[in-house]
Amino acid sequence: MRIDIITCLPELFEGPMNQSIVKRSKEKGLVEIHIHNLRDYSTDKHRRVDDYAFGGGAGMVLSIEPIDACISKLKNEVKYDEVVYLTPDGEGLNQSMANSLSLSKNLILLCGHYKGVDQRVRDHLITKEISIGDYVLSGGELAAMVLADSLIRLIPGVLNDESSALSDSFQDNLLAPPVYTRPANYKDWTVPDILISGHEAKVEQWRNEQALERTKKRRPDLLG
Ligand code: ADE
Repeated sequence: MRIDIITCLPELFEGPMNQSIVKRSKEKGLVEIHIHNLRDYSTDKHRRVDDYAFGGGAGMVLSIEPIDACISKLKNEVKYDEVVYLTPDGEGLNQSMANSLSLSKNLILLCGHYKGVDQRVRDHLITKEISIGDYVLSGGELAAMVLADSLIRLIPGVLNDESSALSDSFQDNLLAPPVYTRPANYKDWTVPDILISGHEAKVEQWRNEQALERTKKRRPDLLG
């Protein structure tokens, strides 16, 4: 999968996109991430990418010209499955959306800032608008990282133990069951006997019951 991220704050991506699973997925050649600084596409002598809103009001709006220049250049080189705009008024990200987007070959993620982007960007250049939750972030960058991470871990071969993405919370609309590791007894806080019984089928059954129990208690909405 190739992900092109368009942002005014490219430095924000340096840490999160170069650690852990994302880093390994790039090293394995399974993922390419290209960060594009929107200011590189500004024709303004001060490299400005925003302007005042028509009609007045507080807050700057990202202009259409640099965004169109960047997206057009990318589209000339690569065929994209979706051009995504991260915005609090987009469709809510959930596991089923992540599952289907993870099948994409090439994606553009556009990060908004300030008061957002000129509406004509959304009307003419964007194919999908995604929100990561009902709260407002200072920009789309953190949302783009959340989205990218949720997709990358689903790509076959990215996780060492491939079944582990399948046992995540929300796959099957269930939360994940509790997990434990050694020591089996710590300050008299013990691990459920069943998990150290060596009885695989019973462990599996216990995990299913726990997942259902947890979901009923914490997220009954997932059970429909
Ligand atoms: N940009 C600002 N807030 C956001 C959110 N909640 N989701 C996606 N993009 C955003």
